[in-house]
Amino acid sequence: MSYAKELESTAKSLVAPGKGILAADESTGTIKKRFDKIKVENTEDNRRNYREMLFTTKGCEEFVSGVILFDETLRQKASDGTPLAQILTSKGIIPGIKVDKGPTKLAGSADEQITDGLDGLRARLVEYRSLGARFAKWRAVLSIGDGKPSDLCLLTNAHALARYAGLCVDEGLVPIVEPEILMDGTHTIERSHEATERALHFVFDALAQQLVPLEQILLKPNMVLSGYECPKQASVREVAERTIRCFKRVVPAAVPGIVFLSGGQSDEAASAHLSEMNRIGGTPWQMSFSYGRALQAPALKAWGGKQENRAAAQKAFYHRARCNGAARYGKYSDAMEKVA
Ligand code: 13P
Repeated sequence: MSYAKELESTAKSLVAPGKGILAADESTGTIKKRFDKIKVENTEDNRRNYREMLFTTKGCEEFVSGVILFDETLRQKASDGTPLAQILTSKGIIPGIKVDKGPTKLAGSADEQITDGLDGLRARLVEYRSLGARFAKWRAVLSIGDGKPSDLCLLTNAHALARYAGLCVDEGLVPIVEPEILMDGTHTIERSHEATERALHFVFDALAQQLVPLEQILLKPNMVLSGYECPKQASVREVAERTIRCFKRVVPAAVPGIVFLSGGQSDEAASAHLSEMNRIGGTPWQMSFSYGRALQAPALKAWGGKQENRAAAQKAFYHRARCNGAARYGKYSDAMEKVA
């Protein structure tokens, strides 16, 4: 059976005007790092309470089209027994699932990584769909440095991303294809542009070779930024112009949307960059967000593991979602932060 029509429609809904994706798919190890910062113990209950708090935020569905979950969360029930995925669907939010098994050492390279998780993936996708997931995510991790990203690293990760994407399309999940170039380092924005463009060429070559229908996928890339430790930081305007220029060269118009990751930018910078890109506009694809940290950081801090802080945490989450919703129309401004 072909899911083509459904997948095209799901992909479009995920990048509907004014909306974007919440990435809440931190693995148990990654969420531990976030919880450590607020001195919360990394237990299954705490992870459930935290995510239940986010998902039950009143009105977040105005700005959030989909949520990427971790395996555990897709199987978890809220405190009243409702499956967390059902809480999302009842608000019109589409549940998604992270399906990769994380980065591991790439054979033949000193310090680059390849993402694992293809073995048994088809069967896992079938189960995830039966649990309510309608889209998936696979992240390749690339870095900029001496000889990096290497052709070997780009080729192997692009191949894995395309294999994953093909399986998702077969089994009825929209694949979010995520080649993330980390922005840690002293590299200039020019270097970041060059590496991003090269990486995308490898990815779209592999997708074409493996016959992945581009209308049924979403791309989740880094923005083109100056390395975080680069002494000369590009302006918001330059980031937006370069990012659009870079993606226009490589991303076919058939792709319905680009959902940027935040990648460790500040919350405000992630909103400002996205907003400026949408203000400039003129692209064949939607430019949206699939943020983890940039949507969650203030809420996580306000929550601090305490049920009595739920309302404050939800307010913080709603605010960030609203800011990024405005950024989808190029209408985010500093004033929005001040009012809040
Ligand atoms: P950040 O927005 O925190 O980079 O997370 C997005 C994500 O899902 C990375 O895979």
